[in-house]
Amino acid sequence: MYATFFTLVACLSDPDVSALPVLPELPPKRPSAVVERGPERELRELVVAFTGSVRGEVEVCGCPTTPYGGFARRAALLDRVAATGVPLFVVDAGEMLVKGLTARDELDRSVRAQSVLDLAAATRLDAWAAAPTDLLPGGLGLLARHGALAANWRTSGADALAPSRVVERGGVRIGLVGLAADSPDVPSLAAVEAVKSAMAEPADAWFVLSNAGPDVNREVAAQVPGLAAILATEGDRTDDPVVGAGAPIVETPGRGRYVTLVHTWLATDARPLELVERGIWRDVAATRYGREVEALPEEVRAEEVRRDRARLARLTAGRAVAYVERVPLAEDLDGASALDPVLARFRDDLLQAARAGSAPSSAPRYATGAACAACHGDRLASWGFDGHARALEALARRGATGDPECVGCHTTGFGQPGGFAAVDVAAIGAFRDVQCEACHGPMSGHDGRGAVRSRPVTEATCRTCHDEANSPAFDYASYLAKISCSRMAAPEDAAPGAEPRRE
Ligand code: HEC
Ligand code: HEC
Ligand code: HEC
Ligand code: HEC
Repeated sequence: MYATFFTLVACLSDPDVSALPVLPELPPKRPSAVVERGPERELRELVVAFTGSVRGEVEVCGCPTTPYGGFARRAALLDRVAATGVPLFVVDAGEMLVKGLTARDELDRSVRAQSVLDLAAATRLDAWAAAPTDLLPGGLGLLARHGALAANWRTSGADALAPSRVVERGGVRIGLVGLAADSPDVPSLAAVEAVKSAMAEPADAWFVLSNAGPDVNREVAAQVPGLAAILATEGDRTDDPVVGAGAPIVETPGRGRYVTLVHTWLATDARPLELVERGIWRDVAATRYGREVEALPEEVRAEEVRRDRARLARLTAGRAVAYVERVPLAEDLDGASALDPVLARFRDDLLQAARAGSAPSSAPRYATGAACAACHGDRLASWGFDGHARALEALARRGATGDPECVGCHTTGFGQPGGFAAVDVAAIGAFRDVQCEACHGPMSGHDGRGAVRSRPVTEATCRTCHDEANSPAFDYASYLAKISCSRMAAPEDAAPGAEPRRE
């Protein structure tokens, strides 16, 4: 709605607009006039940086759209924001640890969970809300030791999760409450009471970090007085901020591809934040965090900030205001990172796990390469035409053939019994690309007569690689129709006068 309003305003100030025969009717004035100012307090500035539904994504996302994200770029962005001197608080709304619903295996999960916790700690994470999916690896104690919060889960003993936490930085105190998705023994409406009682200490602003879902969020936003905002994650979906009665609900995109920055100016008592858009607020945020401004000499920049500070004090008197910005973690944030040693350890651990997985065993080995050619030459020929036969090339284009995070799905038998574990192109050798046995399973010794047979190829086979992160558009029927085996298996293809295939 606001977008429309601004577009229309822009049109009216456009000189060409006089040529229009009829002026469109303006929508009703936006409701900001309704916000009452509170008692005036000294201005406190802060930024809350938040992520959610990171789901174990450690590296820049490989495929195939929006190649953003990764902890190294996240660290670079947060360093940039922290360098402005405005107090920075870093939070996560939950679903942080486990890779997609089709994680390749359990060992991967535990290696990944521990690495994500280490990386999060190294990227200034102050607190995060535990989600049910975070419970899988390592148990509650691991989460408790790493700052996980959950006000609406009943936990006790040494492994108990704290309901909330107050963090003080640069003279600003903020309170953080964790709100977890429904657990069987706590009805969701108890969330409101849980949040209220978690807000026990005084703070300049209280934020709820939530993976509890839209219904609970709306209820808490409306029913808990004095809450600044709800910072929420909805997994793969991200809606625009919801402004209703009470605290606004702000969502962040998943998979760690973006960081949502909530630039906040508090000049009254703790209360719901008034979300502002564009205009002067963007200028103010840009002055402090913008890339152009960063290039200015220090004195010039300090002067800009001083001027803005005066402007801000006028604008914010008696208000609690926030400007929400979603920053994509793109190439401009690349560079050497203090996280490099942690990331190197993570890759090492993945490779170790793959070595353990592919250790010699009684399982059939992968025959690889041309082993199928003698008897299934037709299939081999047709396979050569689809993308599976060039999957390692795709990695090479991204310079990622040495990354065990990527190699698994772009080769055959990585970390599998009877397979291989290497990230050097020469060592990958015959296991390169998505070959016959990536789908049919290891078949060394198969000759069509003996006991070694293909394992059934089902949708689940495809989804070990075509998961929600790396193949968001995957649809079994239409994808199956495109690969050569099933094309060959469909006789009507060759039959003259047959119905044309629908794709
Ligand atoms: C020595 C010849 C020979 C080689 C080499 C061979 N196959 Fe076969 N394969 C056959 C024959 C013959 C059948 C047909 C069996 C039947 O119809 O019952 C067959 C059947 C299959 C099937 C159907 C399901 C099954 O398991 O019976 C698949 C899938 C298959 N082969 C994949 C492969 C792959 C992958 C390779 C390479 C790793 C390979 N084959 C190598 C001869 C061979
Ligand atoms: C879980 C399995 C998986 C992992 C891990 C993975 N990929 Fe992929 N990748 C895929 C699949 C599946 C596709 C095809 C997606 C589609 O077309 O729907 C793909 C496609 C791609 C493409 C596009 C290929 C083309 O020709 O258009 C690139 C590039 C790529 N991946 C790079 C990477 C990089 C870099 C990494 C590591 C950060 C990585 N992948 C990790 C499964 C994976
Ligand atoms: C991307 C996954 C995938 C790859 C890679 C793949 N196949 Fe298949 N293959 C399938 C599917 C799916 C079918 C059809 C469904 C079925 O019969 O299980 C199939 C069917 C077959 C069949 C016929 C089985 C039957 O019962 O009629 C043979 C033989 C076969 N594939 C051999 C190969 C050979 C040889 C290669 C390598 C050149 C290969 N496949 C690569 C997925 C794959
Ligand atoms: C071992 C991992 C793996 C498995 C298993 C797998 N794929 Fe793929 N698939 C990939 C990768 C990686 C790509 C991207 C290859 C590229 O374009 O470079 C891809 C690409 C594709 C494409 C686009 C290919 C093209 O020619 O543009 C289709 C369609 C596809 N896969 C279908 C399937 C289906 C159907 C199955 C299951 C029967 C399957 N895949 C199983 C890894 C896998």
